[in-house]
Amino acid sequence: MSTKEYVKNLIKDRNIASITPTSKIGVREICEKMDLSKKVVIVEYGPATGVFTNYLLEHMTPDSMIIAIELNENFVDYLKENTRDPRLKIHHDSAENVHEITRQHGVEKADYVISGIPFSLMNEETRENIVKRTSHVLKPGGKFLPYQTFFQKDEHLMVYLQDYFSIAQDKFFLRNLPPMRVYEATK
Ligand SMILES: C[S@@+](CC[C@H](N)C(=O)[O-])C[C@H]1O[C@@H](n2cnc3c(N)ncnc32)[C@H](O)[C@@H]1O
Repeated sequence: MSTKEYVKNLIKDRNIASITPTSKIGVREICEKMDLSKKVVIVEYGPATGVFTNYLLEHMTPDSMIIAIELNENFVDYLKENTRDPRLKIHHDSAENVHEITRQHGVEKADYVISGIPFSLMNEETRENIVKRTSHVLKPGGKFLPYQTFFQKDEHLMVYLQDYFSIAQDKFFLRNLPPMRVYEATK
């Protein structure tokens, strides 16, 4: 998708929340937190044009699976058209419905959940619901790996990670434009 088309979508839908997809170096930084050498189930919230999805499909094993949940219909259509791979299951839905969606694929527990959805734009109830349901959908030792733009406050996400995960860490990644706040929460 061209930058112009991406920005057009952003103008119509504030939930996209970023003027450009995550850079290659940002994608690598986050994906290196996952062990892709063995069979894994990964849930992705907000794949948009699929910068993470494509990296994961390239690096994961043939028997692994990605369940992608995207709210914006244009991005869902784009992803279905441009990323055809039987290991990828794409859903036009909200991350809030992660349980129902994973069950449709016979998945009770996932290894990783990665997420670019904008917690700062959600109300408190939605933030908490998503973090709580994400924790429930992960295996013990599984990881939730959300990334946000750098100016996110702790109240937007960190406080919920601390409530629902055993370990919650974060760091700033300045080599992406705009810089990111990258979180790693372990169940
Ligand atoms: C900042 S963009 C991230 C896009 C992409 N992952 C990247 O790194 O370039 C956020 C994406 O999350 C989607 N989104 C926002 N709220 C969502 C929700 N509740 N459930 C699923 N997707 C959501 C938006 O439509 C948008 O595609």
